[in-house]
Amino acid sequence: MIEPDKNCSKCKRLKKFRDINIKQYPNWFNGAVPSIINKNSEILIVGLAPGLNGANKTGRPFTGDYAGLTLFHTLKKHGLLKGHYKEDGNDNLTLKNCSITNAVRCVPPKNLPKSDEIKNCENFLKSTISYHKNLRVIVALGLISHKSIIATFNLKQKDFKFGHSNKYNLTEKIKLLDSYHCSRYNINTKRLSQKMFDEIFIETKKILLN
Ligand code: URA
Repeated sequence: MIEPDKNCSKCKRLKKFRDINIKQYPNWFNGAVPSIINKNSEILIVGLAPGLNGANKTGRPFTGDYAGLTLFHTLKKHGLLKGHYKEDGNDNLTLKNCSITNAVRCVPPKNLPKSDEIKNCENFLKSTISYHKNLRVIVALGLISHKSIIATFNLKQKDFKFGHSNKYNLTEKIKLLDSYHCSRYNINTKRLSQKMFDEIFIETKKILLN
């Protein structure tokens, strides 16, 4: 599996942002964040990008920010996480039958990666997907993640509209299931409720039974 170097410099703007963060927060991770990988898992969750005070600080996807609290709580509720999650990442959390990655591996300013940055990271997502030989469901958290997944499968974007709980066949074996991102913004504005997020993982597990 190809992973970006911690100091990846493919994206000039993101490298510049990282250098600023290294100066300001020298004890933080400040690098391309590696995925949480369970090679044999049937589920892959794809987020957007590390949060500044979350994954960029702790070095683990979704760890340390609001989106992570929601995601890890929900995974535990649906039997996809063992152990306890701690915001600093010093915990005994293990994922069951799932892996977590991000469409973009380095923290972008204002949580918004530019299209060339998303493109630069597509190879890493492609490699992460093909590393999972038992993969059955990819859960896309948000539009950017959805589009990156479609791009890595060389499919036409127009045939795959993003929408909460939209479901598509990517291959004969692999399905894509869309979810609104579990960001603080989406939760506060009620775009995504806990019930809606629960339904995504109920559906994920249903797919695995077929
Ligand atoms: N943290 C991540 O690692 N990814 C997201 O999409 C949001 C927060």
